Amino acid sequence: MLRALQLVRRLRDNSAFVNAFSSASGSQRLAGKVAAITGGASGIGRATAAEFVRNGARVIIADVQDDLGRAAAAELGAGDTAIYTRCDVTDEAQVAAAVDLAVARHGRLDVMFNNAGIGGDMRSAALASMDMADFDRVMAVNTRGVVAGVKHAARVMVPRRAGSIICTASTAALLGSLGTVAYGVSKAAVVGLVRAAAAELARSGVRVNAVSPHGVPTPLAMRAVAQWYPERSAEEHRRIVVEDMNEMVGPVLEEEDIARAALYLASDEAKYVNGHNLVVDGGYTVNKPLNMPAPGQEAS
Ligand SMILES: NC(=O)c1ccc[n+]([C@@H]2O[C@H](COP(=O)([O-])OP(=O)(O)OC[C@H]3O[C@@H](n4cnc5c(N)ncnc54)[C@H](O)[C@@H]3O)[C@@H](O)[C@H]2O)c1
Repeated sequence: MLRALQLVRRLRDNSAFVNAFSSASGSQRLAGKVAAITGGASGIGRATAAEFVRNGARVIIADVQDDLGRAAAAELGAGDTAIYTRCDVTDEAQVAAAVDLAVARHGRLDVMFNNAGIGGDMRSAALASMDMADFDRVMAVNTRGVVAGVKHAARVMVPRRAGSIICTASTAALLGSLGTVAYGVSKAAVVGLVRAAAAELARSGVRVNAVSPHGVPTPLAMRAVAQWYPERSAEEHRRIVVEDMNEMVGPVLEEEDIARAALYLASDEAKYVNGHNLVVDGGYTVNKPLNMPAPGQEAS
């Protein structure tokens, strides 16, 4: 009898656990939070805006593509759920204004996703033929724009002693062979910035992390592949990003995978994660084959 009662209690406790878990996984992980997303009109930024709204956040979409940005905001919900603002991240005053817009409309900024980026001229892979003007353009958006985003998000988050700043880096920050020198440098600098800012802001209660995607067939990645293989079709370019550039067989890396990584870093579930670079690459950057035959495979 006692054992039967214990069994019933254990089952009841277990089902409470299962229910709590399921409601957590389907719950509003950013309920009541306010997020600003640069580059939110397209690709990873747009998918992240949708994921954040699904999880209860109100978002400011900051971009330079006005039509796409307005359409994204309208699609995400009525009223203040999603607001589009034009913001060129190369202009610090515009970044400051996007942050101030969040505070003016919602009274706070909880999450800043510094995600806007460009590939630059992906043809100039060799150092010798590097165009320094292209280098400056890529650095202005991908690095300086992110520095401005971190600076102004911290300005409003530190006084509240809370906030999550997320910056989009790339697997190109970790490996020298992906993309151009300019792109690799710009993204490696983002990882360095995240560490420096996380160290400074930890005692202010503000977290700073990076997310590093590998190849996702967004307009940015598709433009890069089109520059490498101009003679191939758009369908072939897409296949190159989805299949040839990636490591895992089976699952395909999508914008939503990066959005969910950003969601984790934005949420209170990551309350003690600071200065981290969350690489979402299916293991691409941990794989380097030996430049010799595998043991037992040598031709006799
Ligand atoms: N797609 C990939 O394979 C991949 C891989 C690693 C990292 N990334 C990074 O992900 C981020 C998002 O890119 P995406 O792949 O979604 O490409 P995307 O082209 O779909 O989105 C980039 C967005 O940034 C915006 N943008 C560009 N310059 C801007 C500026 N000066 N000010 C404000 N907004 C600006 C664009 O208008 C666009 O909406 C970028 O930082 C990119 O470097 C992408």
